[in-house]
Amino acid sequence: MSCLSVGENGNLSIGGCDVAALAEEYGTPAYIMDEDQIRENCRVYNRAMQEYYGGNGIVLYASKALSCKYIYRMMKEENMGIDVVSGGEMYTALKAGFPAERIYFHGNNKTDDELKMALENGVGRIVVDNVFELESLNRLSGEMGKTADILFRIKPGIDAHTHSFIRTGQIDSKFGVSLENGEAENIIKMADDMENLNVVGVHCHIGSQIFELEPFELAAEKMMTFIADLKDKYDISIKELNLGGGYGIKYTEGDTPIDYDKYIQAVSKVVRRISEERGIPLPYIVMEPGRSITAETGLTVYRVGAVKEIPGVRTYISVDGGMGDNPRYILYQSEYEAVRVNNPLAEKTVTATLAGKCCESGDILIKDAKLPEIKVGDLVAVLATGAYNYSMASNYNRIPRLPIVMVSGGKSRLAVKRESYDDLIANDL
Ligand code: LLP
Repeated sequence: MSCLSVGENGNLSIGGCDVAALAEEYGTPAYIMDEDQIRENCRVYNRAMQEYYGGNGIVLYASKALSCKYIYRMMKEENMGIDVVSGGEMYTALKAGFPAERIYFHGNNKTDDELKMALENGVGRIVVDNVFELESLNRLSGEMGKTADILFRIKPGIDAHTHSFIRTGQIDSKFGVSLENGEAENIIKMADDMENLNVVGVHCHIGSQIFELEPFELAAEKMMTFIADLKDKYDISIKELNLGGGYGIKYTEGDTPIDYDKYIQAVSKVVRRISEERGIPLPYIVMEPGRSITAETGLTVYRVGAVKEIPGVRTYISVDGGMGDNPRYILYQSEYEAVRVNNPLAEKTVTATLAGKCCESGDILIKDAKLPEIKVGDLVAVLATGAYNYSMASNYNRIPRLPIVMVSGGKSRLAVKRESYDDLIANDL
């Protein structure tokens, strides 16, 4: 994480703030995020959009990675669009004052209420997943006297090498319609004849935490070829191509992400080549990075409450959070790295499992982590927790959700406050 450093007092520092001092001020456990780094990541994407597509497109922040009002306000300021996948994400964004026309609404089972909410608020694009949704949306748009601008979620049939739960572009996926057997072209022809819908574009997303370039190039090739075929066969013009997100980030030393700029450049070459070869105009390009915008900008700080050595077996270091604030180990066996907040560069001489406090043996943050000596009362920071942690958090064991502290230029402020016990029972009747 490039936003980290070691302060003069030997403590871990993020965005110019002492992590131990933040732990004192806001309590533990807590998510701490570097706002400047989030903004810089948005700018990297926006610059690449400018450089490789001449600005003919938009970068959406896939807000499933981390959704709260604070981040939507930041995305508005950074001239980003956003991707939402539920009424809840849409509601949060709208309440934060995010411009509706820059919202893309995804999801494989949008309810009528969610679709109505999108139409009422003038959400920019609805990414249609299936024929049932298509029919509902046409009916609802008609009833409400609106015309919906839609994209179609397409499965390009690409198997990206990532965890099976976060792989989405292959044929055996619950998302979208397949390019095979004419499924995608049939639904687009059907939509083209519908009165209350305006077919604007096509979308694909092949998966998440992908390190290779080739699957992205291949997806772009298949989608551009499909657009050209639609033009040739049916004279249907597709103006917008949404290429999804999925760029990998560095959780541990073993992870080797490519420069995002390189992905975008490589994909843009494929898009331009096919546009020239097939004589179709360059589509308006949409990208949807989520993880790569926020993951490496955040850490979670915990306090150690117990160190248990089972001779000849393993040492467990128990912290005051766990699978409730970071379910990624229990879901995907995801790997993380941790440091001691005091003297984070200290030699890692110990192998120990960093465990959470939930009543579940699988509640682990890092299995067999390499750490320096850790004693009860120490602060430990798990790194790169800025994506898919807060957004996937739960209240298992009725543990309140953590606050999100944003730091910028040596100053900190709360973006989300810690849940209270009263919050936990607020809906209990
Ligand atoms: N666009 C669509 C349609 C998506 O489904 C996703 C992620 C993204 C964009 C953003 O992908 P990213 O750039 O963040 O890789 N909970 C899992 C990740 C699930 C991702 C789902 N879709 C995890 O913790 O790894």
